[in-house]
Amino acid sequence: MYDSRIEAADTATMYRDLASALEGLITGEPDPIANMANAAALIFETLPDVNWAGFYRNVGGELVLGPFQGRPACIRIAFGSGVCGVAAETRQVQRIADVHAFAGHIACDTASNSEIVVPLIRDGDLLGVLDIDSPKPGRFTEEDEAGCVRLGEILSKVL
Ligand code: SME
Repeated sequence: MYDSRIEAADTATMYRDLASALEGLITGEPDPIANMANAAALIFETLPDVNWAGFYRNVGGELVLGPFQGRPACIRIAFGSGVCGVAAETRQVQRIADVHAFAGHIACDTASNSEIVVPLIRDGDLLGVLDIDSPKPGRFTEEDEAGCVRLGEILSKVL
């Protein structure tokens, strides 16, 4: 049994432990669905105040729902639409303190108030995005962004 509970003294340590746990889970496993599924579970279990964590994959220039933890979500998102679509189109991390103030935000779970979306890129190709939602306004700090970008780097190698 894998025990994914991480108890760290501070956020930076927590993300370091989370990155190590993620590397441990995916090392040697070539199947992208298995890796996204375990990554979503690990992130959802580890990060406090998160109500959704998962992936949208780039399928022919459209974002299609991948493995996740949380409530059922919208299945297809066009590039440029919502927080995920903007992250995919611009290839820039979207760290949104108040999703209700984001023009075009797609509300999958009404409990979500803040969100971070990290584009997953390998060799110049956009593979998809990692999306994490929180019920807490302004949940994601610069430190969270750095930690999530690191998780994205690890994941991009195996998707
Ligand atoms: N809020 C996202 C849609 C995906 S859900 O949060 C899972 C968006 O605006 O793209």
